[in-house]
Amino acid sequence: MTGWDHPATAERYERFNQRHARYRRANDVLVREAALVSGLRVLDFGAGTGRTASAALGRLGRHGSVVCVEPAAAMREAGQRRLRDSRVTWRGALPEEPEAFDRVLAGAVVWQLDPFRESIARLVGLLRHGGALAFDIPALYLGEPDEPGGGDDPLLLDLVARLAEGRPADREGSGLPRAAGARRFTPADVEAALRSADLQPRSWAFRQRLTQTAHARWLTIPVLTDGLLPGVAPVERDRRIARALALVDRKSFKWERWRGWTAWRP
Ligand SMILES: C[S@@+](CC[C@H](N)C(=O)[O-])C[C@H]1O[C@@H](n2cnc3c(N)ncnc32)[C@H](O)[C@@H]1O
Repeated sequence: MTGWDHPATAERYERFNQRHARYRRANDVLVREAALVSGLRVLDFGAGTGRTASAALGRLGRHGSVVCVEPAAAMREAGQRRLRDSRVTWRGALPEEPEAFDRVLAGAVVWQLDPFRESIARLVGLLRHGGALAFDIPALYLGEPDEPGGGDDPLLLDLVARLAEGRPADREGSGLPRAAGARRFTPADVEAALRSADLQPRSWAFRQRLTQTAHARWLTIPVLTDGLLPGVAPVERDRRIARALALVDRKSFKWERWRGWTAWRP
């Protein structure tokens, strides 16, 4: 198992982001829907290598700031090297600063929170009144299937099936491996958790084109194939993914849908 706190995961996560816009697009929508404006104090939860923070900084002006919270040291260190901006500070755990932030952002992370409801309540405690918690999540992780795109493999199922080589893979219905620690929960569970934390949620959605090649490169981020290829070293996983990619239709793509919520604290 590699998990998030592994140099190969941090390195390949960044390599993927340099080549493909999946997380950049998601973060651009997230910061727009979070209604960021100049001067706000933002907490970026599950900051990874700082890609959500990068998107936020463009809207925060000279006097805004971002506290990046990332528990995996390998991801955090990669982020600290990549994102050099005096408005950004990094931490390995949540700060003890009740009601200190105008926004809490959580890009591509919340399905890994367990227990979900208690984790949300903890984040809400950091928000000022009038502030908001904003997060997004691939809709597939909420049990909502993606829309077919094009090509012979319009839901991008073939690559994972080949990697699994007939073994039952720990994966979501449409072929994406379940992220480490992921569990099934529904949009209704999300809404209920937000309302039980006394927030006023507004949900939003967007979709983006995910190509077979981008999907293959995404799978080279080792944490994503810990369930599918247990005990296989990251370099060998790269080889197997490249071999499988050569056998599937590279022109295929699917429409990947994301769901998001902006939940205001009255
Ligand atoms: C897909 S990355 C997203 C990073 C960044 N927000 C972005 O959009 O590029 C998910 C991140 O969530 C972090 N993470 C996983 N479980 C977490 C938890 N329970 N609390 C905080 N962060 C967590 C991982 O270490 C990883 O860096």
